[in-house]
Amino acid sequence: MLASTLLPLASLAALTCAHFHVLYPEWRGDSLELETASQWIWPCANISETTNGTRTKWPTTGGSIMINGSHEFAFTYVNLGLGENVTNFNMSLVDNFNQTGAGALCLKDAVKSALEEGLKAGNITGGTDGLDGQKASLQVIQIAHSGSSLYNCMDITFSKDAKLLDDEECKNGTGVGGTRIGASEAQEAAQPSGSGTTQAGAATSAKPLMGSGVLAMVVAIALL
Ligand SMILES: *[C@@H]1O[C@H](CO)[C@@H](O)[C@H](O)[C@H]1NC(C)=O
Ligand SMILES: *[C@@H]1O[C@H](CO)[C@@H](O)[C@H](O)[C@H]1NC(C)=O
Ligand SMILES: *[C@@H]1O[C@H](CO)[C@@H](O)[C@H](O)[C@H]1NC(C)=O
Ligand SMILES: *[C@@H]1O[C@H](CO)[C@@H](O)[C@H](O)[C@H]1NC(C)=O
Ligand SMILES: *[C@@H]1O[C@H](CO)[C@@H](O)[C@H](O)[C@H]1NC(C)=O
Ligand SMILES: *[C@@H]1O[C@H](CO)[C@@H](O)[C@H](O)[C@H]1NC(C)=O
Ligand SMILES: *[C@@H]1O[C@H](CO)[C@@H](O)[C@H](O)[C@H]1NC(C)=O
Ligand SMILES: *[C@@H]1O[C@H](CO)[C@@H](O)[C@H](O)[C@H]1NC(C)=O
Repeated sequence: MLASTLLPLASLAALTCAHFHVLYPEWRGDSLELETASQWIWPCANISETTNGTRTKWPTTGGSIMINGSHEFAFTYVNLGLGENVTNFNMSLVDNFNQTGAGALCLKDAVKSALEEGLKAGNITGGTDGLDGQKASLQVIQIAHSGSSLYNCMDITFSKDAKLLDDEECKNGTGVGGTRIGASEAQEAAQPSGSGTTQAGAATSAKPLMGSGVLAMVVAIALL
């Protein structure tokens, strides 16, 4: 109920707040241009899998991922859901990654071990080789410093013949990078310290609390 009343506000905020483009694999559709799309809408910006029929062949060992962010920094997550028309993106490929600097960010070959672990956790036998020919979708989430969450999805078919992007295509923009929000920082945040909430602590709590994102968004709107 709350969410539906907030949607018009969310679209309004989208006009003034930042957003991100997906550069690779090709996104389902241009969530910034399509009239019925909005990056604020979970899980895939209100773009269904069949909108544009775009499905990129992606290596079974995990392929490249490239986005173009407009925030100076944003906590970034990439999740994977196996199958068609998935809404359950239950495999985490990129977790708690602090993208820094606005512009192109390319992760060339960064998700292989996360993919292997996800298969194991899901009791999916056959390893990455077994993915050959399977359809799946990727979901990229960016949580900006305001607490708002933005979504985009890309559809893929795993293929053992698909390649990573080459170095010519896969480049970070000038001043663009990022770091994983470290486990040690998170541990520190968990220690009672008396010095208040650390940044890592704030980031850790940002992920599961989409509700707080909505709240922060309302606050942000109130400040406009
Ligand atoms: C579908 O994909 C093509 C090729 O990338 C693109 O030019 C077009 O804008 C897309 N259409 C929609 C509705 O997103
Ligand atoms: C989502 O997309 C559908 C059409 O695909 C449209 O009818 C609906 O209004 C959109 N929802 C929002 C909140 O824009
Ligand atoms: C996915 O959704 C589309 C559109 O609703 C539908 O045509 C297609 O059959 C669905 N595919 C599967 C495997 O459910
Ligand atoms: C990233 O987005 C910015 C702003 O929209 C644009 O100027 C720039 O050309 C984009 N970069 C790439 C590599 O798409
Ligand atoms: C994730 O979803 C897939 C497909 O629906 C399922 O096979 C797998 O077991 C799930 N993984 C986990 C960890 O629940
Ligand atoms: C995978 O198998 C283990 C051990 O049998 C079980 O505890 C776990 O719940 C299973 N996970 C899924 C996602 O089915
Ligand atoms: C882009 O920056 C990220 C974060 O620093 C790094 O992991 C990645 O390897 C860089 N990409 C390229 C193509 O150098
Ligand atoms: C993320 O990066 C920004 C910009 O460098 C920095 O200000 C912020 O403290 C970082 N957040 C975390 C939790 O590492």
